[in-house]
Amino acid sequence: MIAVTEYIALESNGIVRPDGDAERFPDALLRQTAFDRAVALPSGRAALWYALRDAGLEQADEVLIPSFTDLSVKRAVGMVARPVPVDVEPDSYNLDLEDARGRVTDRTAAIVPTHLWGEPIDMRAVAAFAAEHDLLVVEDAAHALGTTYTSEQVGRFSDYCLFSFRFTKEVTSYKGGLLLLPAGSTAPRKRVCDRLSPAKLGGVLALSRVLDSIPGQLYHPLRNRLLDPYFRTSAGRVTDVTPQSFSERERSLLAGQYERLADRVAARRRHASRYDEGLVEGLERPPSVPGHGYFRYSLRVPASRRDPLYRALQRRGIGCSKSYSYTVSAPGECPVADRTADRVLNLPVHAGLDDGTVDRIVDVVNATWDELR
Ligand SMILES: Cc1ncc(COP(=O)(O)O)c(C=O)c1O
Repeated sequence: MIAVTEYIALESNGIVRPDGDAERFPDALLRQTAFDRAVALPSGRAALWYALRDAGLEQADEVLIPSFTDLSVKRAVGMVARPVPVDVEPDSYNLDLEDARGRVTDRTAAIVPTHLWGEPIDMRAVAAFAAEHDLLVVEDAAHALGTTYTSEQVGRFSDYCLFSFRFTKEVTSYKGGLLLLPAGSTAPRKRVCDRLSPAKLGGVLALSRVLDSIPGQLYHPLRNRLLDPYFRTSAGRVTDVTPQSFSERERSLLAGQYERLADRVAARRRHASRYDEGLVEGLERPPSVPGHGYFRYSLRVPASRRDPLYRALQRRGIGCSKSYSYTVSAPGECPVADRTADRVLNLPVHAGLDDGTVDRIVDVVNATWDELR
């Protein structure tokens, strides 16, 4: 029996080892981007909120967001301005600029290109579109630490760029975010907030060990319900938006994981190409795009067979997900996104897996798909 989780197991990416040089974070990341200022925030969604506030947007301003994205994005934008969902491209599921063009009005002030699941969006095209319509570009790189565009870490060609350190990410302090900003923006109020006291860390680790031994359908609900309260957040909601410095321990955790990032993204890419090569003909793979960081590996399964495949894989111990199974647009408003939400099925691709386990997952997926035909 195979038993694998979809997300990284916390202890496998170093969350319990604050072993990096704290002084190096976030400077080491900044040096890889076109920015030279960063603000730590309690989450990626808070970073998005902060960017729009910092840029002076108001409630009547409109912000173009992908219709196929995390609910928290719509909520964070909605706290400052009016979110306007844009349909996505049929292959990449990234924001469709042609559709965006039709949704621009004289109130449109910003666009939020998103490197969905680590696949780099064409930022030069986004920047040209933004220049044409005089829009601010807030780059959502929540999934894209380690993703490259034109061979460099994403975080160029935009006015603001946000990252998320939530527990599902390859670099994580269990919960946290970072916003890269333009040099001229005002200095934020800061407070040091240690979300990772030794007691909390011990509790999180113990719980995570127990939960990581429960793959299958119970895993995510339990993880969200039991682990999230440690950090007072829940899916989609924007609770705390106060800028804050990282504690020494968080910086050391993040720095250590960041140092290992290149190897871990290489492992993700290796797993993705094993899936690309090994899965049966009829299963549609995600596009293989240079620089993809494979935060997720998303199969595109015909809607009538997606749920049976999902349930069968869960039963067989493969922690897969249907994320996102929703859109942030109204039904019918963004038809490609509507279809997409019914088709996606994400296979485990995290760096805690070894090649042999990925091969076994391939065998189980192929056999299950065959049985369902
Ligand atoms: C695409 C995207 N943007 C932004 C966020 C917000 O990040 P956080 O969960 O750290 O608030 C998420 C959530 O993971 C996300 O998936």
